[in-house]
Amino acid sequence: MTRPELKPIFGDQTEAIERYVDILIDRGIAWGLLGPREAAVIWQRHILNSVAARSLLPADSTAVDVGSGAGLPGIPLALSRPDVQLVLLEPLLRRSTFLQGVVDELGLAPRVQVVRARAEDHDRRYDSVLARAVAPLGKLVGWCNPLRSAEGQVLAIKGASAAREVTDAGPVLDELGLDAEVLLLGEPEWPETATVVRVLPTGSTGA
Ligand SMILES: C[S@@+](CC[C@H](N)C(=O)[O-])C[C@H]1O[C@@H](n2cnc3c(N)ncnc32)[C@H](O)[C@@H]1O
Repeated sequence: MTRPELKPIFGDQTEAIERYVDILIDRGIAWGLLGPREAAVIWQRHILNSVAARSLLPADSTAVDVGSGAGLPGIPLALSRPDVQLVLLEPLLRRSTFLQGVVDELGLAPRVQVVRARAEDHDRRYDSVLARAVAPLGKLVGWCNPLRSAEGQVLAIKGASAAREVTDAGPVLDELGLDAEVLLLGEPEWPETATVVRVLPTGSTGA
């Protein structure tokens, strides 16, 4: 398993991210939250892909990870950005139970909270609304935009389909008065580990 240099990303939370990866590979696979083949690619495909968005989170801000599943991108982001208050939003009992176990074992409460709910039924507002592998962009924006504070952003971690999804979501974005830009993010040694679509009110992006 190839792994990146962790200290520059996780600082004094380096042991905690290693522990989280151990939990994912062990309990995450046993509980069926991650496929057994993912263990070999966990650092690049899951951890670096999740943490790439950390530079987009404002200092001392709030964030929600919609459809957090086994904690991606929320847990790696929380461990690399100790100034951010984060909610892991997940409707399924098994997954939210797994997430609460991770939060307890890594000592992340009360800064990181698990909430068992669907995005459509959640009524808090956040500076950043994150989602990875949850739904196509048009649908996702409909769920996530109401959770965004007036100055806030939606950050959708996507793959190679990002530009096409932005095009497909055009009518929804126009209706909601939003613009989307596609950002390629990564580390010096691991360039372009994530494609993030940032959605903001029209006129606020570089798009
Ligand atoms: C494919 S998993 C992705 C999990 C994780 N984000 C990742 O990247 O590994 C999609 C997750 O979205 C959750 N989900 C589906 N519909 C949702 C909704 N309406 N609101 C919040 N979460 C939802 C599912 O329960 C599931 O955990």
